[in-house]
Amino acid sequence: MKAAVVDRLGGTPQYRDVGEPPVHDGEVRVTVAAVAVENVDRAIVAGTHYTAAEFQSALPAIPCFDGIGHLPDGSLVGFGGLKPPQGALAEHVIVPATHTVPIPDGIEPPTAAALSSAISAMCMRTAAGLTAGETVLIQGATGVAGRLAVQIARLLGAGRIVATGRDRAALDEVAALGADAVIDTAVDEDRLVRAFRENAGQGYDVVVDYLWGRPAELLTRALVPDSFALAKPTRLVQIGESAGPAVRLTADALRTSGLEIYGAARNAAAAMPAAYRQVVDWVRDGALTIPVTTMPLSLVAEAWNRTDLRGRRLVVVPG
Ligand SMILES: NC(=O)c1ccc[n+]([C@@H]2O[C@H](COP(=O)([O-])OP(=O)(O)OC[C@H]3O[C@@H](n4cnc5c(N)ncnc54)[C@H](OP(=O)(O)O)[C@@H]3O)[C@@H](O)[C@H]2O)c1
Repeated sequence: MKAAVVDRLGGTPQYRDVGEPPVHDGEVRVTVAAVAVENVDRAIVAGTHYTAAEFQSALPAIPCFDGIGHLPDGSLVGFGGLKPPQGALAEHVIVPATHTVPIPDGIEPPTAAALSSAISAMCMRTAAGLTAGETVLIQGATGVAGRLAVQIARLLGAGRIVATGRDRAALDEVAALGADAVIDTAVDEDRLVRAFRENAGQGYDVVVDYLWGRPAELLTRALVPDSFALAKPTRLVQIGESAGPAVRLTADALRTSGLEIYGAARNAAAAMPAAYRQVVDWVRDGALTIPVTTMPLSLVAEAWNRTDLRGRRLVVVPG
């Protein structure tokens, strides 16, 4: 079969022939229909993700660990849990039958492949407990996940949505998606701290943080009150690290700002099935749009290196 193969850490996947993996008891053969390429997949191949060692020790290996495909009976499923050197960027995958879930009717394979970013954006409710009317700050709103988070905050009834990014034109697009205010993070430190304060309205109730790094650090500075006032709680849910893997967190930010920090995985096991159904309903109704750009597996090397997708998820399809 054909697959996208990486020979060395930091390399670009190459389209070529590989041996068809055998099917063992309890496993199923899935004909791959769509695979979303996300930052985590690129980071594993680049060697910068914490799980990259496993990928490196299996080289040559096929990237991406989940996707959408057809079972031998023709039904459409999501599959996951692939371990290197096996990966989803292939014509077929072999997975334990328990690692497949039916895809609901009315969801096309490329959209199904990209659903996970929308579902994880539901962490603003599942992890941070967002309720209608609250103010939400989305850090990194110009990315694929951030744009979905803006739409989802609106659908969940947020009262005010503030969105950050570092590209003026992209921020205008995010405003058109439903953000009430936008903040450009590509400014000096004092100006950004001021912008966080000026746009907070009655205070940020929930922060969805796809950035971490410098913008998160400056946000925590902005949340610290200037006087001995009791700050309103701000529930920050950490979900990405596009601006850096670490922050310097001052003691007063935790002691006096009302800042509470949660991981996106908080409550996920219990709350995600309902979050998944909600996202599927919104997509089917047309209330939520997940923009994707599809490219055939044979052009995987070109697809992998694209930097022009502007808020659209790359999805690799057969061909
Ligand atoms: N845990 C989960 O379930 C989950 C799900 C989805 C995403 N994520 C994580 O969330 C993050 C964003 O994912 P994505 O798919 O939306 O990625 P993306 O489409 O590449 O968007 C990245 C965002 O970060 C901004 N950005 C990148 N580098 C930056 C920097 N140095 N300083 C300030 N802003 C910067 C980008 O701004 P520009 O538009 O100007 O480039 C854009 O807004 C990633 O870390 C990803 O792994 C996690």
